[in-house]
Order: sequence, then structure tokens, then C-alpha cells
Amino acid sequence: MNIVDIIVKTKRGVKLCREEINWMVENYVNEAIHDYQISAWLMAVCFNSLSEEETFYLTEAMRDSGDKLDMSGVAGVTVDKHSTGGIGDKTSLVIAPVCAACGLHVPKMSGRGLGFTGGTIDKLESIEGFRVNVEFQDYINIINKNGAAIIAQSGHLVPADKKLYALRDVTGTVDSIPLICSSIMSKKLATGADCILLDVKTGSGAFMKTPEEASKLAELMVKVGKSCKKNCRAVITDMNEPLGNAVGNSLEVIEACNILAGKQKDRLYELCIILAANMLELGGMGDYDECIKMAKEKIDNGEALKKFGDMIEAQGGNRKAAIDYSLFKQPKYKYEVVSDTDGYVCAINSEEIGMAALMTGAGRKSKNDSIDPTAGIILNKHVGDYVKKGELMMTLYSSTVSDMKPAAERAFGAVTLNHEKTAARPIVIDTVK
Ligand code: URA
Repeated sequence: MNIVDIIVKTKRGVKLCREEINWMVENYVNEAIHDYQISAWLMAVCFNSLSEEETFYLTEAMRDSGDKLDMSGVAGVTVDKHSTGGIGDKTSLVIAPVCAACGLHVPKMSGRGLGFTGGTIDKLESIEGFRVNVEFQDYINIINKNGAAIIAQSGHLVPADKKLYALRDVTGTVDSIPLICSSIMSKKLATGADCILLDVKTGSGAFMKTPEEASKLAELMVKVGKSCKKNCRAVITDMNEPLGNAVGNSLEVIEACNILAGKQKDRLYELCIILAANMLELGGMGDYDECIKMAKEKIDNGEALKKFGDMIEAQGGNRKAAIDYSLFKQPKYKYEVVSDTDGYVCAINSEEIGMAALMTGAGRKSKNDSIDPTAGIILNKHVGDYVKKGELMMTLYSSTVSDMKPAAERAFGAVTLNHEKTAARPIVIDTVK
């Protein structure tokens, strides 16, 4: 086989067979095919796309490029959840303990954030002592004992995606539906859960800017998951404004604790309940309405918050952090942004809020940067709210950036005020089964 022939086939829209895709992935991982050749192929995919079969073959070849986890040591059905990435998305921190409190097993391997998107692992590391690097057998033991564990992806899982994703990042080839699908699904399939819930985000802070694109990605991912014998479902959710009030690592963990404590019943709470209910239903815990009720009950009766405490303790942190927020590192600097005019909030550009949070130190500009766990933004107003001139819109926090004026200007610039009230969009747009 020859990589030039493969590039030319994709350039002309001629379908590749399984053997060609396997050969290409294997030889790219072994470094027998060069980055510049795969770059050309990736660009051809961006222009001509791949068929469903080709995407399926690519996903399997990527999945099989490294280790695959055997989750048979978990005593029960396992359900994983993956979000395609959003601003202020701390739903995993809520859903894992809610589902575990309902009796489900939730194994979750998460990533770190890069750029304006936050990573669940960075968020958890803002809890003092919390270990995200856990040996595989300990991971299984914790899941069997507590029902859930969230750890960093480790070992030799899907090396093909590590190489391909890094290359896509620097060649302008990230935003291709078959490439996103194979990247996400190869990792989900390698981490071995029985059922997978996908939260496909759409809007200003998401890869998929329109619901139509998000539906295409969701349908493809569900098909690929099902072809690999996984019980798979996708929920398409709105990312046209940041999710919840907090953007930034410890701020988001604290917000997740507020949701688990039943103190915050907003759009974020609504999404967490819907995602948890979908996971519970996928895991065979009841029909959808029963699962909604169950998830709400576990928050109202305190069991979900207690479960989060168990998860923190099992991974080396102080369980009291879930209820005593003074145990988090406190930010050194604070900057309040007040409105310079009256009006209704009609839009908050998520990506811009993410970029402003990055300027406070909450994220990484490049892979090896360290992050400031105390940094980020609390939004006091959301789409549909009325703001008076001089009223508090948002507060920025940092321990590393003393002059937050530029970040504040960027964050305030993300908000559009208008005389007419805009209704908040529904948080869930569609479900793909
Ligand atoms: N997340 C991934 O893991 N891969 C992509 O291609 C896009 C988002």
C-alpha cells in the first residue's frame, strides 16, 4: 500500500477500504508515514468528508492503536459520559455522584483543558490532595466501592488520537465531523464502558456552531458506538451561553457542590438532571421519567453530595471540601464588572468568556502551561435577565494576574444588552438514540 494513493483517493472522493485505513493508522503511529502526508490526507477529509463505513473503520483502527481497558472487574453495568466541550461545563462533577448514589457504576477517564475549554481533571485537582493518577486496579476498586471514579487518562490508550489530534490542531483540520467522531469515539471505546452518553454541544462556545451540524455529529457517533455493540445515545445541548455561573477550576467545583447540595436549581441543574437520567436509563435503572425522579431525589435527600464526598476521600482529598469551601485555595485578586447601561442580557458569547477566563490564568495557552486553580469568572447575569446601570454583571478572580482590566473588558465585551427581552434558549435541543 502507498500513502500517496490513499491521499489521492480521499482527494477524489474514492472510498477507502478497512485494510487501507488500518494500514495508514498503524504506519502513522509507527512513524513510517510522515506528518506532512497525514496532514494532506486530513485536509482532503475536511473537504470531501468520509463515508460512515470509513469513519467506522478509522475509529476502530484508532481504538486498536494502543491498550484497551477491560472493565469486567466492575460488578455491574458501566455507563460513561462524554461532552464535546463547553465553557463552564462541570456536569461530570455532578452527574457521576448523582448516578453513583442511584446505584449505577460510572467509570470516567477525563482530560485536561487546553485553550478556552476547561478540563474535568484540572477542576478536580483544585481540591487539595485529590489524586487523578490512579492505578487501574485501584480505579476498579473505587468504582466497586463508591460507584464512581474520575481519573486522568493514563497509559498507552489510543496513541493514534494523540498524534492525529496534535496534528489537526496545527493544520486547521479539527472541525471535520468524521475526524471529531473518530477521535472521541476511539477514546470512549478504548476505555471500555458498556454504555456511552454523549453530550454534543452546539453554539458560540462549541465546535459545532449550529444544531444541524451537532445533529450530524451526534448521529454519526451514536451509529459508530452501536456498531461497536455499545448502548449509545447523544443529547444535543445549547452552548450559546456559558453553563452555570462559574468558569474556572475551583469556582466550578464549588458550583457543582452547590448543585449537589440542592442550593442551585437553574439551567445547569436542569441539564445535570437530564444527563443523569439518560445515563440511568441507558444503564437499565428504570424508564426515563423514573430516572428523572430518582436523580432529583438523590440531590434533595443529600445522598448525591455525600457520594461526592466519598469520591473525594477515595482519591486522597478531604471530603469536607464538598461542604466547606474555605478549604479551597482562595484567590488573591478580585475585579468586579458593573454594567455601564440598562438593558436585557440577550447574548453572552461563550467562547469570549472562555478567552477572558484564560486571561485570568484559569486555562492553558499551550500544553505544558500551569493553571491557577483560583482563577476564573462568576457570571451574575444570564440571558433573559434585566441589568441596571451600575449593577454587578460579573466578578473576575485570580492569584496570578493582578491587573484584570483587559480580561474584564473582554468578558464584558462578550455580553450583548438590548431593550427587548430575549428568552433563554432551551438547554436540551434534541436526543439521538
Ligand atoms: N474532542 C476530542 O477528543 N476530539 C476532537 O476531535 C474534538 C473534541
